[in-house]
Amino acid sequence: MTGRYRIGVIRGDGTGPEVVGEGLKVLEAVRDGFDVDLMDFDLGADRYLRTGEVLPDAELEQLAACDAVYLGAVGDPRVKPGILERELLLKVRFQLDQWVNLRPVVRYPGVQTLVPSHTEDDVNFVVVRENSEGLYSGAGGFHRKGTPHEVAVQESINTRHGVERIVRYAFELAASPARRGTLTLVHKTNVLTFAGDLYQRVVDELASAFPSVEADYVHVDAACIYFLDSPSRFDVIVTDNMFGDIITDLGAMIQGGMGIAAGGNINPDGVSMFEPIGGTAPGETGKGTINPLAAIGALEMLLRQLGEADAAARVDRGIRAATQQMKGMRAGEMGFTTTAVGDLVVEGAA
Ligand code: IPM
Ligand code: MN
Repeated sequence: MTGRYRIGVIRGDGTGPEVVGEGLKVLEAVRDGFDVDLMDFDLGADRYLRTGEVLPDAELEQLAACDAVYLGAVGDPRVKPGILERELLLKVRFQLDQWVNLRPVVRYPGVQTLVPSHTEDDVNFVVVRENSEGLYSGAGGFHRKGTPHEVAVQESINTRHGVERIVRYAFELAASPARRGTLTLVHKTNVLTFAGDLYQRVVDELASAFPSVEADYVHVDAACIYFLDSPSRFDVIVTDNMFGDIITDLGAMIQGGMGIAAGGNINPDGVSMFEPIGGTAPGETGKGTINPLAAIGALEMLLRQLGEADAAARVDRGIRAATQQMKGMRAGEMGFTTTAVGDLVVEGAA
């Protein structure tokens, strides 16, 4: 019996379509023993500017009926900040209850980073970012907006249910054979004494159910130092939505840049969405120089989530072959155009 998956594709804005194109090329190359129906969604800045629509309910329902979603990037300088981010990207994450944002921080062979003291093995951890609440919930508001007495409140919502499910997910990951058995809570418990306390108590409570996992704690500001100074101390990190957003950009830089970092918005019992974590790169758009490896890494995660482990492993081999061939060059340099890098992955995945 062969599987058949419906994959929703949101190419999105900026360089999104270019990198998704390479990812789909790789998908076709590694697809063996299963079929895919790609379902393209016309969502993003162009659609919004043309029609005023961001994500109509009918399309949200169609996304919810897919087996997985593959996203390029959203955001556009022509659109006021917040509209596409909140009403498209965050709406999908929240409405499909993709409560895990899984962001591996891995250093592929031969990739140069800004931290010459790191060896290739030093950087190999996963950030489990809470993806459904915290400061991203949209709770808050203005009081006396536009006056000298204006008040702006942005509340961090942390529910027992939300914290418990993300911490449990992280413990399970840390205990799995794929990881090394260390879970680090990253927070700011010395100042955020309510939210941080809830996270720490949940970690302490669940620790006894995972005796093989060593539970550690690091303040978020110190975590930024350790990312540069001693990243090998991290195996699995669990953190809230906002801290996770910020530290994974730093994480991307110790991988070799935003062009490499992939992530998944995961609903373990529902539909998950995979994306390169960098933005739309307006300065690179249309030049054929953007690095597609992050999007291809997102495809690898998508395949793994679907249960197509062999295809995912082939993508991984392809990425590693590509970075080895690139010998520290960046995408765009020395003929390593977007499509050339995609071709290297296809060759390496053969
Ligand atoms: C990310 C992005 C998004 C986030 C924005 C675009 C809403 O920065 O995926 O990291 O903050 O989660
Ligand atoms: Mn971000």
